[in-house]
Amino acid sequence: MKFKFLYLILIASALTARLHAQQHSEQDHSKYMAPTDPLVQQKLSKWQDVKFGLLMHWGTYSQWGIVESWSLCPEDEGWCERRGPHSHDWYEYKKAYEDIAKEFNPTRFNPERWATAAKNAGMKYVVFTTKHHDGFAMFDSKYTDYKITNTPFKSNPKSNVTKEILSAFRNQGFMTGTYFSKPDWHTDSYWWKYFPPKDRNVSYDPKKRPELWQKFKDFTYNQIEELMTGYGQVDILWLDGGWVRPFSTIDPNISWQKTIPYDQDIDMARIAKMGRSHQPGLLVVDRTVTGEFENYVTPEQQIPDHYMPIPWESCITMGDSWSYIPKENFKSTRKLVHTLVDIVAKGGNLLLNVAPGPDGEWHEEAYQRLDEIGKWMSVNGIGIYETKPQAPYRQGKWAYTKKANTTYAFYLADEGETIPAKLKPEGLNIPANAKISIAGNQKSLKLKDGSIEIPAKTAVQVGQQPVYLFVIN
Ligand code: GLC
Repeated sequence: MKFKFLYLILIASALTARLHAQQHSEQDHSKYMAPTDPLVQQKLSKWQDVKFGLLMHWGTYSQWGIVESWSLCPEDEGWCERRGPHSHDWYEYKKAYEDIAKEFNPTRFNPERWATAAKNAGMKYVVFTTKHHDGFAMFDSKYTDYKITNTPFKSNPKSNVTKEILSAFRNQGFMTGTYFSKPDWHTDSYWWKYFPPKDRNVSYDPKKRPELWQKFKDFTYNQIEELMTGYGQVDILWLDGGWVRPFSTIDPNISWQKTIPYDQDIDMARIAKMGRSHQPGLLVVDRTVTGEFENYVTPEQQIPDHYMPIPWESCITMGDSWSYIPKENFKSTRKLVHTLVDIVAKGGNLLLNVAPGPDGEWHEEAYQRLDEIGKWMSVNGIGIYETKPQAPYRQGKWAYTKKANTTYAFYLADEGETIPAKLKPEGLNIPANAKISIAGNQKSLKLKDGSIEIPAKTAVQVGQQPVYLFVIN
């Protein structure tokens, strides 16, 4: 207990390395392979219509308020740094880290509250970390003891948290996704204890130890099958840990991929086939492994600088970190709404991450942000959901989408900016006879020399907003 406090202090003071875009940056989108299975195509287009989802990183690491899993990784990188009383010795640290499971007891866990808050914010899908790189299963896996149902929380009727989360969100109409890390730093068939791990990769050469690698492949397959069978309808299998991949898929232009020492083929064809046999139309997102099993691409902590004509999703944290830290630095509602509009105008989805804490609750600020986003979405969601990108997509402070004959023109206002009396949507040709109004307001607006005129009374009625939406017919 004493140590816990010490950890919190030490760790909270050193979070600069948290924004590590170490893995999933640039990708070659010309190599995207569209799915051929009609059920997958259908689900993908449904997913592209919903635009806005929730990601949650939650595990025993949340107890210490540290980076998810990475402090176990023996790489000399800022985000892998160990802190606290056990940090001087990797083995001792690993043991202490894994022993957190003996204490983890998130008694305030209430996924209905999360689902309601996310729904009111206008989110329509959820992706949850069922297992991160540390190998701790947030579901009741029979293939490991290192799991949520083997902690002090096991006596709680909601102890199989993955099941509870997916069903709470599904009950509110959400599509559901399981984040699952392919690498597993707990199981002996990945970090084989005979060799000490050197880095994030498998600790032995799979070619030299085919039986051990087969064991790991089966373990991964079996755990994914548990998720695809015992947890109701699952729409997305979101696979992280892109270094677990066949050698042939390595892109030599991407620096982190060049350092992968071994072929780590886990037979995605077999996994995807099994997944879809239980979950027809399942979206498989084998992140960064461009090809058949990456149904959409996932830029991380970043927004592409222009429109991309393939299915994609930016995953972005609401604060600074993926996992819970005691003092989180939340982005403003304005910034979050701008982020959503920017992404949707460029043809993508936003998967916004909120991190539950050790007690099973979010920071109150997370609820506040979602509430404010929801107020904006309830009026302006018409320009978001089920829309298609509309050229010029983004120009200056403007963003565009369209649906049937309607064009949606978003004006991304600065902090403190009220709506000006005259606005010219940049790069958009508006026919002289177009009908124009501001979302949520009756008044029809006049066009003069290509600029929209906003009467003072209307400006007062719409008030200050992070983004103003003009509906043009
Ligand atoms: C980064 C982090 C990883 C996290 C992922 C989410 O890659 O290193 O821990 O799960 O982002 O996209």
